Order: sequence, then C-alpha cells, then structure tokens
Amino acid sequence: MKKKLFLLVFTMLLCKANAQGEQIQIETQNTALILKAGKNGVLYQSYLGTKLRDNSGYNVVSKESTKSFVVNDGNPLVNLRHQAYPTFGTENLFEPAIRMTHNDGNPSLELNYVNHSTQKLDANTTETIIKLKDPVYPVEVTLHYKAFYNENTIEQWTEIVHHEKKPVMLYNYASSMLHFDADHYWLTQFHGDWAKEARMQESELTSGTKIIDSKLGVRTDMYQTPVFFLSLNAKANENSGELVAGTIAWSGNFKFTFELDNKNSLRISSGINPFASEYNLEPGRVFTTPSFIYTFSNKGKGQASRNLHSWAKKYGVKDGEKSRLTLLNNWETTFFNFDEKKLTDMFADSKTLGVDMFLLDDGWFGNKYPRSGDKSGLGDWQATKTKLPNGIGFLMQEAEKTGIKFGIWIEPEMVNPKSELYEKHPDWVLKLPNRPESYYRTQLVLDLCNPQVQDFVFKTVDDIMQTKQGVAFFKWDCNRMMTNAYSAYLKNQQSHLFIEYTRGLYKVLDRIKMKYPNLPMMLCAGGGGRTDYGLLQYFTEFWASDNTDPFNRVFIQWGYSQFFPAFSICNHVTSWGNQSIKFKTDVAMMGKLGFDINVKELKEKELKYCQEAVANYKRLSPVIWHGDLYRMISPYDESRAVLMYVNESKSKAVLFSYTLHPLYDPQYNAVRFQGLDPNKTYKVEEINLMPEAKKSVEESGESFTGDYLMNVGLRVSSSKVESSVVLEITEL
Ligand code: DGJ
Repeated sequence: MKKKLFLLVFTMLLCKANAQGEQIQIETQNTALILKAGKNGVLYQSYLGTKLRDNSGYNVVSKESTKSFVVNDGNPLVNLRHQAYPTFGTENLFEPAIRMTHNDGNPSLELNYVNHSTQKLDANTTETIIKLKDPVYPVEVTLHYKAFYNENTIEQWTEIVHHEKKPVMLYNYASSMLHFDADHYWLTQFHGDWAKEARMQESELTSGTKIIDSKLGVRTDMYQTPVFFLSLNAKANENSGELVAGTIAWSGNFKFTFELDNKNSLRISSGINPFASEYNLEPGRVFTTPSFIYTFSNKGKGQASRNLHSWAKKYGVKDGEKSRLTLLNNWETTFFNFDEKKLTDMFADSKTLGVDMFLLDDGWFGNKYPRSGDKSGLGDWQATKTKLPNGIGFLMQEAEKTGIKFGIWIEPEMVNPKSELYEKHPDWVLKLPNRPESYYRTQLVLDLCNPQVQDFVFKTVDDIMQTKQGVAFFKWDCNRMMTNAYSAYLKNQQSHLFIEYTRGLYKVLDRIKMKYPNLPMMLCAGGGGRTDYGLLQYFTEFWASDNTDPFNRVFIQWGYSQFFPAFSICNHVTSWGNQSIKFKTDVAMMGKLGFDINVKELKEKELKYCQEAVANYKRLSPVIWHGDLYRMISPYDESRAVLMYVNESKSKAVLFSYTLHPLYDPQYNAVRFQGLDPNKTYKVEEINLMPEAKKSVEESGESFTGDYLMNVGLRVSSSKVESSVVLEITEL
C-alpha cells in the first residue's frame, strides 16, 4: 500500500515538474533523451547523449531545436528538422516516421503534443508515454519510451489509432526517429549470408540516405542482422568514442534508414519495413509497432555491448538469468541417416562426454513420405515407423534411463509438397495464384496469417509435449525465405502479409510460452537467419551459423557478441575444419557450448580433453553466460582474437585467446586484462589443455594483482596457427 502511494506521488511529481516547460526527460543512469513541445505544438527531440549533471543545460539545447521557424536561404521555414515523430504531407522536407492517406483522400498528417505521463514501473524501469494528435483529422499517435536505468537502455515503440469513418491507409509507421548532430557519422552494419553471418562492415555515412533492411519475409536476417552501431564524430573503438547501438525487436521485414541532410544532421528511423506493406487500419484498431531498443555509450562499443547484454539477460531473452543445457546434436554426424540403435548409442555418448542433453535433429518424421532427405515429409510430425518403430516416446524414456535430457528439432512453419499435410491442405501454403509454386530447399512456407494454420503449428509442439514425459528442448528451424508469397486467407489485403505472418507466429509462440513456460528453445533459420529480440522473447538461445569451422566461427561469434549475450549464442564442435579438437572446443566455449561430432571417433586423449573441457565449462558457465564481456583484440585488427568475461563481483574471470593465421613466428606482446578489480589478487591458471600438453602461458599457476594484470598484462596468445589458450582467473 505504502509502495503504491509512493509510486503515485512520484508519478504526479514527475508530470508536474515536466509540465512546467513541457520538457520531457527520459533518463537512465548515464543517458538522457530530452523532448520538448515547441510553441507551435510540434514535439521535438532536443537532446540525446550523456546525461548532464545540471538539468538547466537541457533548456539551452531545447531553445535551439524547438524554434518554430528557421531561416533557410534567407526565407523562414517551419522548423521540422528535429521533429520527434515526423509526419508527411505538410511542411516536413525529410524522411517521415508516419505517412497515411485519410478517408477523403487527403495524404497529409500533422501531429501536435497533447500530454505526457511518466510512471515508475519498478525500481529500475520508467515508462514515459507521450500523446500526439492531428489538429484536423481524428488521428492519435502515442509514443512509448521505457528507460532501463542500470542497463542504460531505452525501448521505444509507437501506437497509431484513428476514429475516421472508414479505414485509413498507412504507408509508413516507424517505431522511432532519432536525431543527431555531429561532424561525422560512422555506421557499423552486420552483413552476411548463409554460413557467413554477422560480418562487421564500418563506413562513414555520406549525404543522402543509407538503408539497411530486409525484404525476405521469414528467415529475415539471412543477409543482414537487424542491428547497427552509429558512432558520432569519429570511429568508436572498444573502449572510447560516442555511439548508439540499436536493434529492432521484430522478426519480419525490418528497416533502418539513415538520412544525412543538408545541415549535416542525421535522422535514424527504425521499424518494420513498410516495403510492399501498406496497412489498411480500421477505425478504433490500434496499430502497435515493434520496439526499437538502443543504448548510448560514451565509452566505446564494449560498453554498448555490455549494456545490451545486461538488458537482454533481464528483459530481452527468455529466461535470460537461468542456466542453459550443454548438448550433443546428431545433425553433422548422421544427417538423415539414423535409426533407434544409432540414436540410443549417441545417448550413451552424451553421457560419456558429460553434456546435459541429446538433441535429435531433422529426419525423424513422415510415414507416407518419410523424411529421408530434404525433399519430403516436412509437415508430417509423426515419427517414421521404419526408422523409429517405437516412436519418440521410447527415445524420451531411453534418454531418461541413460541420465540425459532429450531435445528435438522441428520446422513447423514449413511444408514439403511431398507430404500428407500438403495433400490435405494445399490452401495452407503461401503461393501465388496463376503462377507455378516456387520451392527453396524443396519446401513452401505455411500461411501463418491463417488461424487454422496457427492452431496446427501450436499442435505440432503440443502433441510432442503430450507424448510421454515430453521433450526438454526444441530446436525450431526455418529454412527458407518468402518468395512468390500470397496468402489465400488474407484475400484482398495482400499488403498485410509480411506483418500478419509475423504476428501470427508470435501468437503461436505466446500460446506455447503460456502452456510450457519453462521449455527452453533454440531459434534457428538455416544457420543464423533469425537473430532478433522479437523472437528471443520466446527462445532461450539461437543457432549462430551452420558454418562451424572454428576459424570462421571466431568472426561470426565476434559479430554476434556485439549485440547478443554469450548464453544466447549456440556454438557446436563439429567435423567442419581440420583444426584440433582443442581449438574447436575452445572456440565453441566462448558462447553456449554444444557438440555435433561422432564421439566414438575421438582418440582417447581427445575424449579425455573434451570431458575435461565440458567439466570446466560447467564450472565457468555462470561467468561466461552472465559476466561482463571485454573484447581486447579483434580478429578484424589482428590475426588473433582475445576476450574475457568477468563476473559481477570481479572474483572470477575467463580469458579466451585464439590465434588464427598470423605471419611466420608472430611476436605477441602482453595483453592487458580488463574488468578486474585492481585491488584484488588473482591466480591465473591455464585450463583446457590436451592431456600431457605443455602450458602456453608461462605464468600459469602464479598470482597477480588486478592492477598488474590490467596495466602490464600477460602474454596470453600462442604463436601457433589456429591454436587457443583458455585462462581461469580466480580471486585469492
Ligand atoms: C538448418 C540448420 O541450420 C541445421 O543446423 C540443421 O538443423 C538443418 N537445418 C536440418 O535440416
């Protein structure tokens, strides 16, 4: 009761204080976003950056940005350059956040400030809601800002509603628009393809518009991870420089637009990609955009990543604060070629390795059209009798007997034309009328706009969970993008397809999460084709790439580590690449460790090494998963990578050093550690050594102060091509 009263008084105080100058302060521990309504009623962004010690500074910046008119070329111009949510059709000359056509055909919109409120949701989170309204047409737009104090992260989204007689047509509906004024802007994007995910590319923005987007419909992030860094004035590095790190919590088509204008002002609009997606909005229906999530750092990219990792742990990823399951997967070892005996033998192998779970991959289902390859069976989620005569219930029981958990692969949004599902429901797939069906991996996308299809997808999971004791884990795959897409269910509203598909998918996942709240699931899309904080609300982790060659993997994991926490990035030790088992395992241990190898083919020493590495990983995973990440040497700068994780109390740390392909006999100097407590003394121990192998780090076993390790450092990198060093650092 007391707490409620306090919250109410606090909220009222905030509104009163803000109402005086209509200055809206959205703050985290170190960042401030300041908005203010001008005399003309327009809402402006007047500041985004490091929080000032003295609030009066915000009044000064506001004066400039909220002027009703500016002079351009000697002529007065309505000032809309820093409009918080720019409209289209009247005076705005730049990229709009929103564009619509009204019932009467009028293609313009103006939005004026109405009111705002700020509420403290809990000790760490504050939500600010700002209402805007068109002075002529009955259209209302509500801007939402959730500020996470400790994580220095802001989540921003928008609601659009109107009360006209008939639907209005929405052409643009951004989640957010942010404004910056700097001398130079450096953009880092994360580009890729199958087996080449999350490659970092940094370039200076030039005048005009740069777009990063996806039009793939599903498996949306195959060519582009929906994240970016935008550094101000100069390129940011790991520990210095000002930048914004942004990402969109949307699993369908997304779009980031960077518009650098005539005055060198930059505006960034983020949201659903409106491409081929004009939306007919019914009167009274609220169109809610997905959240744009961002953090501002004045201490470089490392701090930005740590902010997002902490945010993800608490708010962004399902069960982010819980532990994860280590596993043995059978995909790379068996592909579609397995039977009961092979699988139950692998259960025993999982036990031998010491991992928590066996994960059965693709190929276990289909009877009329067995899934013996990727050309048939998808959609028929019953175990193939010829392969698995006792069904998956038997496998669940056998795994339990062996003392391991059992997980299973599904791809429930897809169908092979050669399947019973397709024979029964040819109208459940996305396909164009009057044109031939278009296959990719011999499959089609199911129409998740259709509630019957949503029920089917939910039932796929539910049936498996209702078999015997159910599974402990799902790997949810999605191996194609949309092409030739048309939904029979949507009839004459085909431009809603990309949006309604994604919403349909979320509806199914909401039901699954509701019924099975503790079920861990891995998000996968033919490698890392789905890596976004929209789906990570439902998934505990994601498959980063089918490319498991540890050399390539260092780069892929490095890329994802900028935006996603280690516990969410799944890495498996496989037979890709001919490097040592140690190098492969050490690389996979940088995130969530799994194996996908034939354990029986391991030499005795290799097996012993793996067993020890799994045991080490289990001991250290709380630090790797939930500690702070410090990236010290980037593989983009040198032919090696060095990083470390430090736990919250700075009592334990793990350092990974990967030597890639350096020039002959590299002379590596000491690497300075980061994130430790200078006043503590730490023992440094090299772990994950092959049996009888010599240590690479001379000082292994010795103790040093944090001060020494951070200011002098140690030579941590081996000079051998494709080799690795893992150090366990423990407070004495
Ligand atoms: C693509 C995934 O990325 C792989 O890990 C594997 O599950 C295959 N699909 C199975 O078809």
